[in-house]
Amino acid sequence: MSFVSLDRLVRTGAVAEKDAGRVEYLWAEIARLKKEKRAFIPAHNYQVPEVQQIADVVGDSFELAVKSRNIDARFVVFCGVRFMAEGCVTLAPERPVYLPNLQALCSLAEVDADELAERQEFLRGLGRKFSTMTYVNTYADVKALSDVCCTSSNAARIADRLGTPDVLFVPDQNLAYQVAVKTRRMYLPPPEANLFDPKDYLERIRPLIQEGERQGLAGNVFAWEGACHVHHQMTVDDIARIRAQDPQAVVIVHGEVRPELQRAADQVLSTAQMAKYVETHPEARHLAILTECGLVVRLELEHPEKQFYKACRLCQYMKAIDLENVYETLRDEPAERRITVPEGVRGGAARAMEKMIALAR
Ligand code: 13P
Ligand code: SF4
Repeated sequence: MSFVSLDRLVRTGAVAEKDAGRVEYLWAEIARLKKEKRAFIPAHNYQVPEVQQIADVVGDSFELAVKSRNIDARFVVFCGVRFMAEGCVTLAPERPVYLPNLQALCSLAEVDADELAERQEFLRGLGRKFSTMTYVNTYADVKALSDVCCTSSNAARIADRLGTPDVLFVPDQNLAYQVAVKTRRMYLPPPEANLFDPKDYLERIRPLIQEGERQGLAGNVFAWEGACHVHHQMTVDDIARIRAQDPQAVVIVHGEVRPELQRAADQVLSTAQMAKYVETHPEARHLAILTECGLVVRLELEHPEKQFYKACRLCQYMKAIDLENVYETLRDEPAERRITVPEGVRGGAARAMEKMIALAR
């Protein structure tokens, strides 16, 4: 993120006036400790602006995963959510990685590895030729059971390069839809959450598989029953309201929103791709960006010449990170905030993540 002065953060309301002195003190202390201790601070695009300001790199989950492999630092303080910090340990296990608040989780990531193994067995039983493609918003035990990982910035590209007609896409059902549309596969909606009944499910998907064959599609995407609680609550009415108010606005949504929103939008992008779009399209002066609010707050600060519509929501997990807990973590390196990955699953998870990085090129 380009530097934004404290004055400006206060004027725009991003930082409350009463907190300005403390923010100034913490910025200075964090900068001093970071240098003295040779620490590295990555931050996700959804972090609050005062945290993004002290980061060494700000990006989407793919950029942060790639960056975390080659850094010259003694340890990492990760300003994001647990699966991102875990990905950093998975790819570079020798360097300690700390998460400033252990409540920084993700509503997508709680997938049961045994249930995944069961679903894979079910598809093998049907004789399907499939790859298991896992969104990085998962933990290492699930990644280890997968052929490849992906993020919202590369999911379709990777699915195109897998070499199998079918894909079992875990866990985001909405990103699964985007993959199906972009790779000309049939989207097979997920079973109801916690209610996987093989017979029932098969009855529901069989006609769709046959329809895909009739249309000559490349294969099928079997969607898992996960969704992000932030993006899944957005509705087409959010888009309709903005379009009615400002027909010129370019509507950009994240791949985690429901299919009907993806169809109603002008662009479906990852968070870093959204930021890039705003920068590289000077003619797009009115934009509606439907994703977590942190990114839009930052874009408003960087582009005061543009008009943004905020149909966004907050992710309480991303917002569990603040300057105070980043400072404490940097100062104390608390053992209980260190993120570890069991060695039994780390190798498999690293293989799936490295394959993503190779296929995304
Ligand atoms: P990006 O990879 O687009 O940053 O998305 C991560 C995420 O958690 C979206 O909710
Ligand atoms: Fe997870 Fe959704 Fe928060 Fe992203 S916005 S970290 S997917 S809960």
